[in-house]
Amino acid sequence: KAIIFVDSLLQKMTLDEKIGQTVLFSSGSDITGPTIDKNFVDYLKDGMLGAVFSVPTVKATIELQKIAVEETRLGIPLLFGYDVIHGYKTIFPISLGESASWDLDLIEKSSRIAAEEASASGFHWTFAPMIDISRDPRWGRVSEGAGEDVFLGNAIAKARVKGFQGDDLSKNNTILACAKHFAAYGAAIAGRDYNTVDMSERELRTTYLPPFKAAIDAGVTTFMTSFNDLNGVPASGNKFLLTDILRNEWNFDGFVVTDYTSINEMIPHGYSKDEKQAGEQALNAGVDMDMQGGIFLRNLKKLVEEGKVSEEKITAAARRILILKYRLGLFEDPYRYSNEQREKVTLYKPEYLETAKELAQKSIVLLKNKNNILPLNKHQKIALIGPLVKDESHILGTWIARGDRTGKAVSVYEGIENLLGNTEIIKYAKGCEIEGNDKSKFNEAVNIAKESDVVIMVLGESHGLSGEAASRTNLDVPGVQKELIAEIKKTGKPIILILMNGRPLTLEYENEVTDAIIETWFSGTMGGAAIADVLFGAYNPSGKLTMSFPRNVGQIPIYYNYKNTGRPYKIKGAEQRFRSKYLDAPNSPLYPFGYGLSYTSFQYSDLKINKNEFNFNETIEVRVTITNTGKYDGEEIVQLYIQDIVGSVTRPVKELKGFEKVFLKIGESKEISFLLTSKDLAFYTNDMRFKAEIGDFKVFVGTNSVELLEVEFSLK
Ligand code: IFM
Repeated sequence: KAIIFVDSLLQKMTLDEKIGQTVLFSSGSDITGPTIDKNFVDYLKDGMLGAVFSVPTVKATIELQKIAVEETRLGIPLLFGYDVIHGYKTIFPISLGESASWDLDLIEKSSRIAAEEASASGFHWTFAPMIDISRDPRWGRVSEGAGEDVFLGNAIAKARVKGFQGDDLSKNNTILACAKHFAAYGAAIAGRDYNTVDMSERELRTTYLPPFKAAIDAGVTTFMTSFNDLNGVPASGNKFLLTDILRNEWNFDGFVVTDYTSINEMIPHGYSKDEKQAGEQALNAGVDMDMQGGIFLRNLKKLVEEGKVSEEKITAAARRILILKYRLGLFEDPYRYSNEQREKVTLYKPEYLETAKELAQKSIVLLKNKNNILPLNKHQKIALIGPLVKDESHILGTWIARGDRTGKAVSVYEGIENLLGNTEIIKYAKGCEIEGNDKSKFNEAVNIAKESDVVIMVLGESHGLSGEAASRTNLDVPGVQKELIAEIKKTGKPIILILMNGRPLTLEYENEVTDAIIETWFSGTMGGAAIADVLFGAYNPSGKLTMSFPRNVGQIPIYYNYKNTGRPYKIKGAEQRFRSKYLDAPNSPLYPFGYGLSYTSFQYSDLKINKNEFNFNETIEVRVTITNTGKYDGEEIVQLYIQDIVGSVTRPVKELKGFEKVFLKIGESKEISFLLTSKDLAFYTNDMRFKAEIGDFKVFVGTNSVELLEVEFSLK
């Protein structure tokens, strides 16, 4: 039906009107680039605008839609998009935090709730999920992704797409998802945002492309290009990515939007000599919609007249966009998402807040718990110290759509206060700011520490220190916060460190001097309540890191699935000089991928495999028993890794190929079974075919990427 409708509409459309569908402008809020074009309403009236992003209110969406429907020749409705990344009003933990829950159902649910809220405010389309794999925590945008691993990244990409788009796009509570940023943006050299990417096709296909294919498999309807150049060609002009892979290999039939002004940016990239050439290169490479740059608007007609781009290509782009407008039901009722009454009853529903709290709890990673100091009992005198104790803004993180930076989020202070119901045992001092050199408030903090039984310090980054254009070369807790820890340490009181941050930080000092460390990321609207639950044992932490935490910046990029090299450094045995290692730091991270403690302990035993030799059609069954041997009920994320010992190209020392969350009561045991097929053993071989090779393999199962039981098998 969509095709018949759209094809007949296209018959009536002029070239200008078709070009109009390929044009997207921002309404003027949430500007993240150098150009602003305030004339978008004029373009709209001329039928030269297909979509608008970040329209501030439902009323404004109605007004704009009215112009599109009533004042343009064909009355084609507008598409309204927005960056709804980890919540729209109800803010969930940042995506990196959510990924640490490894809870696919809950991640899908958070995206579903974000879609419920955003669609009730008039939005049809989110610029999410961000599914860029990254191994470089200097890059601020790791906060928006799912970490360093491709297997987990694929699963989370699918969950998010399903959550946003639901199972039926014609319902007015579902929104188009957008797989971004295509491609390899997470590999920007030195973690500097927008920087160059240069990598082999094998690495591209092995690590950076799979989440995009997974998103397509989950039905994603739109793609966004990335800002970087890839092997010399900017992504928005990259035919290899946008046509050869996306269209011809993967048969993607949705539309491709550029990132903000990234067609214009092909000029400073040194790839296009002027705007016109940039437009030609982008359209011919496979871009359908130009975000904010106005290049298509100003140049496509001329390019057709000059024979540099074909009208068919523009028709095909407009067609893809119109088909999705049709599938959203916008031709039937252009206002079906814009309803103030619906918005009022939808935002911040209590059940959404409950889910936000649950996900915040599950995202929290316990990094250290010396002598089981946590959970705290409710009768200790507490000193609450740090610039983030009473914060209700940074706790929401970066890219918070219409989240409220005041008056809505539960701060750590409020969470503890609500949980304890007794403020007399709490003393508070800010101690210092997040950034800057001011130590004038140190004394007050030291004084309250002295009077307490235990000090809880809430430290970290400001929300602006991660996200887009927020790369850092120093990953320490910023400002004088480390020095504040040192001063408090002198009091001899136990220190519980609660961290808020958008990326892995370098925490060697904190790991040495504090008694416990709780990584809470930026945990969202209900963050403070979740953190209080963890502190006092109402929730037993279960999150596991999805990015390795380096000891220092010099180790970056650092990731668990590295290659062995010809000179691997073994910690055991005699010192070996000419080995692959550093002279001044270990190779290992401070906290590895998959790591996270619990208040209870889990024992792994009886790792078994159903056979020792398999052929390519057989299923490999791996079983393991997990026992809760500690004093609390708790949830464990059981992880399975493989190693292909010899390949036609070198293989990583470990690759995640399965995980399962299991809840165990005190003393309880469960046997878990994982099924693998030869597809799970496949890789891009020396002749670039994706297949498994015969040979010997190891299977590892355990609590993180380092502490593992191991068995072997062969593929014949
Ligand atoms: O969606 C974003 C993208 O991730 C980065 N540049 C701006 C876009 C629109 O806000």
